[in-house]
Amino acid sequence: MDIIRTKSDLREIVNKALGKGQTIGLIPTMGFLHEGHLSLMRRARRENDLVIVSVFVNPTQFGPNEDLEAYPRDSEKDITLMRSVNADIAFFPDADDIYPYGYATYVQVEGAMAQTLCGRSRPIHFRGVTTIVSKLFHLAKPHRAYFGQKDAQQVAIIAKMIQDLDFDIELVVCPIIREADGLAMSSRNRYLTSRERSKAKVLSQALHSAQAKIKNGERSAAAVIQNITERIASVKPAEIDYVSVMDAVTLNDVQALRGKILIAVAVIIGRTRLIDNVQFEV
Ligand code: PAJ
Repeated sequence: MDIIRTKSDLREIVNKALGKGQTIGLIPTMGFLHEGHLSLMRRARRENDLVIVSVFVNPTQFGPNEDLEAYPRDSEKDITLMRSVNADIAFFPDADDIYPYGYATYVQVEGAMAQTLCGRSRPIHFRGVTTIVSKLFHLAKPHRAYFGQKDAQQVAIIAKMIQDLDFDIELVVCPIIREADGLAMSSRNRYLTSRERSKAKVLSQALHSAQAKIKNGERSAAAVIQNITERIASVKPAEIDYVSVMDAVTLNDVQALRGKILIAVAVIIGRTRLIDNVQFEV
C-alpha cells in the first residue's frame, strides 16, 4: 500500500492507472477507521483494480461550535487497518493542500434535502461534504465511490450531486455495520462514557421495533414517530434532535407508509450526537 500526502502524487498514480485501463474505487473517510469503513473497502477491493482510501478530517463540514479539533485521529492504526483489507492507496492530504489560502469555491445541493434533518442543526455541514467529495472525485477519478447507509442523508445528497453535476461515477451504498448490541458503528462513539454507551442502543432498538410494527400492518407515519419518540425519551440522558419518516430518495416527509421508506433519528446522549436509520420497502 502506498501512502500519499499530496494532490499531485495522487494525480500521478491515478493517471497511470487509467492509462493502463484499470478501474478505480474510492472510499472517502475522516479516519479513526472501524468495521463500518472496512466493509466499504472490502467491497471496493472486490470490484476495482485500484482501491483509494482518503483520510481527511474535512474542516468545511464542521460548524464553529462542533468537534473539528476533538475529532478522534489515529493514522497509525488507520494504516494498519487499510493494509489488512489490501487497499492500494492511502491518501492523507493536508488541509493546506486541499484548501489553499484564498480558497473560495463550494459545491452545494440547494433546497430541502440539505436543510432538513441534520441540516437543521448543522447548516453548513452538507455544503462541506459535497465540496470535499467533489474535490476527491476530481482527484481520484473513480469509476465507483463507496458510501455507508449509516449516513442516509449524506448518501441522498451525494446521489443528487452526482446526478445534477453529471459525475460519471457509480455510487455504491453499503449497509450499516453495527456493534453487537445494535449501536451503529461510528468514530464518534468514542466520545460516549460507559454509562452513555450502554444507553445508546436505544436508537437501533427503537428503529427496529418500529420496523416490526410496520411489518405487522402499521401505516401511519405519525404513529411510528410517536412510538420511536416515546421509546427514546424514556432513556436518560437522551435528547431527541429529530425522528423522521420520509421517502428514501427525496427525503420528503410522508404521512402514509408506502414505497421506499427511510426512518431516521438523531439523538444527543450526554455530549455526543448519534444518528441511525432504517430503510425498507413497504
Ligand atoms: P466518515 O464518518 O469517516 O465515514 C466515511 C464513510 O464510512 C461514510 O460513507 C460513512 O457512511 C461510512 N460509515 C461510517 N460508519 C459506518 C457504519 N457503521 N456502517 C457502514 N458505513 C459506515 O462520512 C464521512 O466520513 C465524511 O462526511 C466524508 C464523506 C468522508 C466527507 O468528509
